Amino acid sequence: MMTQGPELETLEAFLESMARLASAVHIVTVRHGGRDYGMTVTAVTSLSTDPVSILLSINRQAAAHDAILATGELGVSTLRPGQSGLARTFAGMTGVCGEARFAEGDWDTGSDGPPVLRDAASMMRCRVLQSHVIGTHRIFACKVEQVVLGHQPHALVYGNRQFGTMAYAED
Ligand SMILES: Cc1cc2nc3c(=O)[nH]c(=O)nc-3n(C[C@H](O)[C@H](O)[C@H](O)COP(=O)(O)O)c2cc1C
Repeated sequence: MMTQGPELETLEAFLESMARLASAVHIVTVRHGGRDYGMTVTAVTSLSTDPVSILLSINRQAAAHDAILATGELGVSTLRPGQSGLARTFAGMTGVCGEARFAEGDWDTGSDGPPVLRDAASMMRCRVLQSHVIGTHRIFACKVEQVVLGHQPHALVYGNRQFGTMAYAED
């Protein structure tokens, strides 16, 4: 059965609505077949404290998608202010692809697992519990197996189509 796409008007309003939703910026990483993959992601949310878990949404076209599915292991490095350059590189906005992206940034690539960024706001190593396809994307529910907190407690945010920082001024 053919699924009907959204009305153009609805799609445009949805995209604008999502643009207004400021989110922390992360780099999701995976090591598979001797290669490292990494991509910029904002669709990360807390899922549960028992098990300690997060939810992420990954486009099925992304190079890291199949690698995450195959290994079931991934790293989530939450960027801090000052790391928008990395966010751009790992989103493919600078034209750098594949492992060459890891030439930028201080990556801990020492273990067998996924690389994590040493000077991020926080770093997590996770294992996939379940995944489910929703159209263009796959949502991954992941158990958080290790958390390393960085010195900088604030995350880089992306909202209204720009990178920035939160002021936390109560209005
Ligand atoms: C701020 C920002 C947030 C993004 N969030 C996501 C996301 O949550 N999920 C996703 O699949 N792609 C997201 N992307 C797009 C991927 O980073 C981009 O498509 C990347 O190039 C995919 O990696 P690849 O080039 O290795 O396939 C985001 C891009 C930007 C700039």
